[in-house]
Amino acid sequence: MYTDTKLEEEIAAIDLMGPEPSDEHSRELYYIGKLRTLIAERSKEAGRQLTACTVTFGCQMNARDSEKLIGILVQSGFAPVETEEADFVIFNTCTVRDNADQRTFGRLGRISHLKKKNPYMKVAICGCMMQEKGNVDKVRKSYPFVDLIFGTHNIYRFAQYLWEVYSTDKKAAHIWEKTDQIVENLPVERKFSYKSGINIMFGCDNFCSYCIVPYVRGRERSRDPREILRETESLAQDGVREIMLLGQNVNSYGKGLENPITFAELLDEVCKVDGIRRVRFMTPHPKDLSYDLIRVIRDNPKAARHVHLPLQSGSDRILKRMNRHYTKEQFIELALKIREEIPDVSITTDIIVGFPGETAEDIEDTLDVIRRVGFDNAYTFIYSPRRGTPAARMEDQVPEDVVKEGFNKVLTAVQESARTRSAALAGRVMEGLVEEVNSQKEGYVTCRLSNNMIVHVPGDASLIGRFVPVLLEECRGFYYFGKIVEE
Ligand code: 5AD
Ligand code: SF4
Repeated sequence: MYTDTKLEEEIAAIDLMGPEPSDEHSRELYYIGKLRTLIAERSKEAGRQLTACTVTFGCQMNARDSEKLIGILVQSGFAPVETEEADFVIFNTCTVRDNADQRTFGRLGRISHLKKKNPYMKVAICGCMMQEKGNVDKVRKSYPFVDLIFGTHNIYRFAQYLWEVYSTDKKAAHIWEKTDQIVENLPVERKFSYKSGINIMFGCDNFCSYCIVPYVRGRERSRDPREILRETESLAQDGVREIMLLGQNVNSYGKGLENPITFAELLDEVCKVDGIRRVRFMTPHPKDLSYDLIRVIRDNPKAARHVHLPLQSGSDRILKRMNRHYTKEQFIELALKIREEIPDVSITTDIIVGFPGETAEDIEDTLDVIRRVGFDNAYTFIYSPRRGTPAARMEDQVPEDVVKEGFNKVLTAVQESARTRSAALAGRVMEGLVEEVNSQKEGYVTCRLSNNMIVHVPGDASLIGRFVPVLLEECRGFYYFGKIVEE
């Protein structure tokens, strides 16, 4: 996003011996500049370049945040590695469901022995889980080897915090309640050369009654569209062909900006950027997905033929208790409208089973939506009470065996729907972006179609990042085996 020369010029213009600059952007660069000397000294002492690794849990937002973390680490002098046997390991956490918390604590526990073996090793933990006081207390008590703790609101201060723990060799914790800042143009180290996420907004104001996101990610803030377009252009120049616009609720994009703009308008603008071939977005809320947005997708061949539209439940009663602001019939009408307007579109969803008060009848409503919409794929989750959310305080929590029964029914229905939808594409030739070498099947690479479907085709690493026409030959549920055909 940001050429190295520009970064170097900016760092060179800062007096690293002087006091810290007051604006956030210069301050981060000031600390990166200072860290370079310190990390170089430590590397010399260790007789090797210090290494750093990010361990990422959760959503696309977190994946993008991790690219920012590793960007700062690389600029400060660390060599990026994929293993936790590194000199600096940072856990970027998620807390959307309890199993995410448990997985993090499990992984964290397992690395304490690595720290005993490596005197240079430091461990950090950040992200959504750290915005909950109970979790910070637990890390301090049960994982005392952790050197640095911070949350979601102050991630743009990461270089400063790194400097603090490396220059003092003391532990540090910085948790903020909120922020209204968006700090632009910090270094990023992308995981993929050909695709990238782009944050368009942060936070969420919806307060669905089960969801912890508004509490840990704070109030909605939109990025200036000019910054988003500048980032898109610079990614395109850097070889990126597919981008994903990221926000917890992209339909609210633009509210509160000096010059308000809608998400549909933004998507239209982003699609115009030369070099970009495909544009995805995550996640729209069904309650305010506009007809304009459907039209922009329909009329823009670059807009991916995929809408992820979280249903959560098909029961009006449960939807009301979830604070979702739409009914079953409104959801179905919207989904069918999307299908009608955008040929070949795939619609995927999220469903929660076991929300407080959910009965077998409510599950029937959810199954009815699955059958009538015919989702191309769905993530089905068991409801997980999150501390501080209204749903966690509801009295009629559903017993585990009832939840299991409902979950199995929903899972069977979505699998069937996905299989039917996928099978209908057999024999078609569609454009795939080659993403990676298939680790399971030798001599194969994995492509992603515009509709988000995965197709495994014979090929090698030289194809990565290329768009190729693929013939869909053998349907395996919600993915295919196929082959690249002549253009
Ligand atoms: N329990 C279970 N699933 C949840 N989700 C969000 N909060 C919870 C919760 N407390 C699911 C929703 C959302 C997805 C990202 O995670 O389906 O769309
Ligand atoms: Fe959570 Fe609802 Fe916001 Fe999505 S829209 S992040 S489910 S509160």
